[in-house]
Amino acid sequence: MCYTVCIKEQIDSDCCLRNITVEEGQSLLVASERNGQPPIAVGCRGGGCGVCRIRIVSGSYRKKAMSKTHINEQDLAQGVVLACRVFPESDMEVVSEKPCTPYNPFA
Ligand code: FES
Repeated sequence: MCYTVCIKEQIDSDCCLRNITVEEGQSLLVASERNGQPPIAVGCRGGGCGVCRIRIVSGSYRKKAMSKTHINEQDLAQGVVLACRVFPESDMEVVSEKPCTPYNPFA
């Protein structure tokens, strides 16, 4: 099964920056990368850097544990999560929280 995820630039925007297809069991970040120029910033891919922050607007998903250094309780309450730790279980709408600049661990 596949889901469609609309990635928006702003929460109140009606238009999608990009629609991506996510396969069952695939993380949102991996799907974003496989759809070409990723609209979600890519970093460590393992929940350690916080670069891939997104805000969930709608849809259901499963998530793996996230570092409280990057995602605190207030973030979670507002739907802010790490795309590399999120696995869509329906069509979704999300907002990319950070600009799509290459992750540089030495910067
Ligand atoms: S890519 Fe580093 S936390 Fe998601």
